[in-house]
Amino acid sequence: NKVVLAYSGGLDTSAIVPWLKENYDCEVVAYAADVGQGDEELEGLEAKAIASGASECHIVDLKEKFVSEFIYPTITTGAVYEGEYLLGTSMARPVIAQAQVDIARKVGADALCHGCTGKGNDQVRFEGAFAALAPDLTVIAPWREWSMVSREDLLDYLAERNIPTTASATKIYSRDANAWHISHEGGELEEPWNAPTKQIWTMTADPEDAPNTPENVTLSFEKGRLTKVNGKTLSPYQALVELNNIAAPHGVGRIDIVENRLVGMKSRGCYETPGGTVMMKAYKAIECLVLDKSALKFREQIGLEFSHVMYDGRWFTALNDSLLNAAASFADLVTGEVVIKLYKGNATVTQRQSPNSLYSEDFATFGADDVYDQSHAEGFIRLFSLSSRIKALKAQGVAK
Ligand code: ARG
Ligand code: SIN
Repeated sequence: NKVVLAYSGGLDTSAIVPWLKENYDCEVVAYAADVGQGDEELEGLEAKAIASGASECHIVDLKEKFVSEFIYPTITTGAVYEGEYLLGTSMARPVIAQAQVDIARKVGADALCHGCTGKGNDQVRFEGAFAALAPDLTVIAPWREWSMVSREDLLDYLAERNIPTTASATKIYSRDANAWHISHEGGELEEPWNAPTKQIWTMTADPEDAPNTPENVTLSFEKGRLTKVNGKTLSPYQALVELNNIAAPHGVGRIDIVENRLVGMKSRGCYETPGGTVMMKAYKAIECLVLDKSALKFREQIGLEFSHVMYDGRWFTALNDSLLNAAASFADLVTGEVVIKLYKGNATVTQRQSPNSLYSEDFATFGADDVYDQSHAEGFIRLFSLSSRIKALKAQGVAK
């Protein structure tokens, strides 16, 4: 028996390694995805996994794939969950799960394991991907099986087995980081009336401490894909890193929300998405130039629908493909440049241009023109509001 475990090196997945071996009489292959969470989390991971009892450890670099095949398509839909959450954790799960299945095939494993609690969204996202990609593999979710409930329990479990760990009994927050964002849940945030303390935020500067002079950043898009930052051609992942580096010192991209988890409960979380916030603002600024009223309305509907597809872990579905295809045809028009001003937590669009722009100064001007005959407006409005007129005339007894 061989199990591939999505391993982070944290306390939970460290305890899962011996627990799997004891309870499933199996070999444990540790797998970690590099989705841009930072070198601190990945450093020494292989040695740690082996020390916990894993037979092998695979670290897979998914950074470019994550940004170009999961983040970019999501941006084209405009998806924002419940009006605020930019879906950082949600977008990472399918790419992580997919590579986990690949490893399982490579090493000939018969089971997949993750360290998600049984209370959240992530279990649904992992297992939704597993179901679509590897229905033949067994899924093991230790948090839904074992009786351990606290960090003390896990530390005792490791100590009894002489497995070293640097974890401590108190870890206040549950955090999840990747190139797009970091999420913070737990601790004092569990009481929605508690304001977040300074120690929660790790990726961005406090807007109150941000520079007193604004900074402009220029983003260039080609057919819906960000290609340049300040005129510099960068890969998708590099462009995101660059935007994070530019926006984070200005305190851009912080949110503090209460959201509906798929499993029914509400959860309070703080999120930091500096570069992503800038990218999405810029993207939408070009859409405003190139999509007409009905196209933009439909794109907004795609975004609303897609935010739930993504949040609910339904990436590997027909609905996902259909929505992405619809968004892609709009994205073909999204070419151009946007200038965003960063200042004390704000990212404000100040300039935008596109070769596909439908904006026409000739039409919009209030001066004299020969392309828009104002007398046409009268008939248009008359018919556009005809049903209101009929209703009112009937109420007045004028029409019958
Ligand atoms: N609530 C967010 C979401 O469902 C963040 C989840 C964070 N996950 C974690 N394992 N810490 O996408
Ligand atoms: C977890 O429960 O493992 C993290 C939070 C979530 O998945 O929503």
